[in-house]
Amino acid sequence: TRVEYLNYEVLDDYGWSLDDEDLFSNAASADLSPTDFGQFLVRPHESLLEAAENRGFTWPFACRGGACANCAVAVIAGEIAMPVNHVLPTEILDRGIRLSCNAMPITEELKVVYNVKHLPYLDELRL
Ligand code: FES
Repeated sequence: TRVEYLNYEVLDDYGWSLDDEDLFSNAASADLSPTDFGQFLVRPHESLLEAAENRGFTWPFACRGGACANCAVAVIAGEIAMPVNHVLPTEILDRGIRLSCNAMPITEELKVVYNVKHLPYLDELRL
């Protein structure tokens, strides 16, 4: 699976929102660092978080067990299976939020905004 990623922290800097339809094309035309925007491949049996780490990126996490939401990402395109979830209620799953620590991509292409743990409705959940 090919993952295109964007750091949630840059959205504020540029006045972008998770709901922008052209979020990723705007990100592609902005001169963002590879830390904040780019692509990598997820191999079979890698979680999204492991794949990011194995390609040299530092994404937030804490428990690695689906219980803290520090590793949360917003899925903008594609879909992710998430076998372990002890923290996200249905209404947050419905907004496309997933836990990268046990996120297994199930589509060939994926677009995710990582570092969304500071979304107000996730801040309340984090332990
Ligand atoms: Fe805690 Fe993923 S690191 S839920």
